[in-house]
Amino acid sequence: MRTSVTVPNEDEIRRQNGFMEKIKALNAKKDTAPKFFINTFGCQMNAHDSEKINGMLRQMGYAPADDEKNADFIIYNTCCVRENAENKVYGNLGYLKHAKKDNPDMKIALCGCMMQQPTVIETIRKKYRHVDIVFGTFNLYKLPELIMTNIESGAPVFDIWQKHAEIVEDLPTVRKYKFKASVNIMFGCNNFCSYCIVPYVRGRERSRRPEDIVAEIKALAADGVKEVMLLGQNVNSYGRGLEKETSFAELLRMVNEIEGLKRIRFMTSHPKDLSDELIKAMAECDKVCNHLHLPFQAGSDRILEQMNRRYTKARYLELANKVRRAVPDISLTTDIMVGFPGETEEDVLETIDVVKKVRFASAFTFIYSKRTGTPAAEMENQVPEDVVKGYFNKLLDEVNTVVYEINQSKLGKTYEVLVDDISGGDADFVTGRTTDNTLVHFRGCKDLIGELVNVKITESKPFYLIGEMI
Ligand code: SAH
Ligand code: SF4
Ligand code: F3S
Repeated sequence: MRTSVTVPNEDEIRRQNGFMEKIKALNAKKDTAPKFFINTFGCQMNAHDSEKINGMLRQMGYAPADDEKNADFIIYNTCCVRENAENKVYGNLGYLKHAKKDNPDMKIALCGCMMQQPTVIETIRKKYRHVDIVFGTFNLYKLPELIMTNIESGAPVFDIWQKHAEIVEDLPTVRKYKFKASVNIMFGCNNFCSYCIVPYVRGRERSRRPEDIVAEIKALAADGVKEVMLLGQNVNSYGRGLEKETSFAELLRMVNEIEGLKRIRFMTSHPKDLSDELIKAMAECDKVCNHLHLPFQAGSDRILEQMNRRYTKARYLELANKVRRAVPDISLTTDIMVGFPGETEEDVLETIDVVKKVRFASAFTFIYSKRTGTPAAEMENQVPEDVVKGYFNKLLDEVNTVVYEINQSKLGKTYEVLVDDISGGDADFVTGRTTDNTLVHFRGCKDLIGELVNVKITESKPFYLIGEMI
């Protein structure tokens, strides 16, 4: 399967194919194929980038390892949205230093968002000299050349770009599931929420052409894919700046026509760009799932303004109601942050009020993490950690109460589930998601994986449901 990435031009892709051939020939001479392991941090964008790295490595004759410990080539695809994501990478790198002493042929590569920060590169050069290859978010496609340079020179290779190039299609990719796939519809972000590092490490917003997206999804559907996830930091602003401007609503309608495809999901929507046209398309396109992830971050208008989110609490509540009126059974999920500079208990109560009013089926809750280089990091009134912890627990209690009540209300009802996998805890159980994105476990065997089946809910747990196939 081929997919897209941002690269300067198609000649460059041909050049990289040349390096791939050479590396493949080198690997073929070895007794056994060298094994790779990709450790992915962060969001679905990174997960999808890792599928592209996987595709390239396999094409170069590397074989997947079942565990990092058994790998000869370890790649960390990093995230820097919060400090703890970065700390994990540094921690693991410390451990790898010892592992490399036992296996001197081991290669370590780092890529992803964290690598776009000059201070990180400085730290790696100084403190983590056992790293062999470092690249960023704009030059993923160059991996074959970087591996070749490292093999030939025997020295560490650093290649970080500060800017993106154009989008060119056609990179090999290996997807995790046969029956569902992620598809980038756009790259980067222009919103500059004041706390967020993403626009600095992923560059400006750029959209793929609708015909390329549709062609990719048609090929996926022909290959057995039933569900696609359309990916972008702000899918609602898809299509701006294209030669022939296309709205996200129009794109959804095009994708909805694709034969064989059963379900369409998308992530993430920014409330400020959620148009009536899009709500109408969601209601009218039968394949679009009954789920909208709409991060609201905070409920206080003062904090929202400081965050540069460009909507108010009232506007968010109005949008949620509008979506519910148009798509009655839709489940709304969200991202929430506490501890933004200057946030008071009163502000947090506004956030909790939104949770109570909108009743989210699930929510990712985060403690604000100061990101150097963002405007919020310069703000003087950073909130002390113990105070934030208190806010966070209060918020979490409220979120969990609502989630549990919503799950309870599903008892006895029947839902269509796309079966993902064998259940982690029990081989006699399988797990999958309803169109409204609820996780369901039920008795079944591995033959059901990739199938759409009807499941009646018999039990409700705090974060998932149990049912039986009917
Ligand atoms: N583009 C998406 C989200 C990208 S990051 C959107 O705007 O909705 C995913 C989530 O991480 C954000 O929604 C936010 O809640 C959280 N996040 C971003 N920066 C953060 C920071 N500095 N500290 C804590 N959480 C952060
Ligand atoms: Fe970050 Fe805001 Fe862009 Fe989302 S929309 S990636 S939170 S800047
Ligand atoms: Fe995603 Fe983290 Fe980068 S959230 S875009 S992997 S900073």
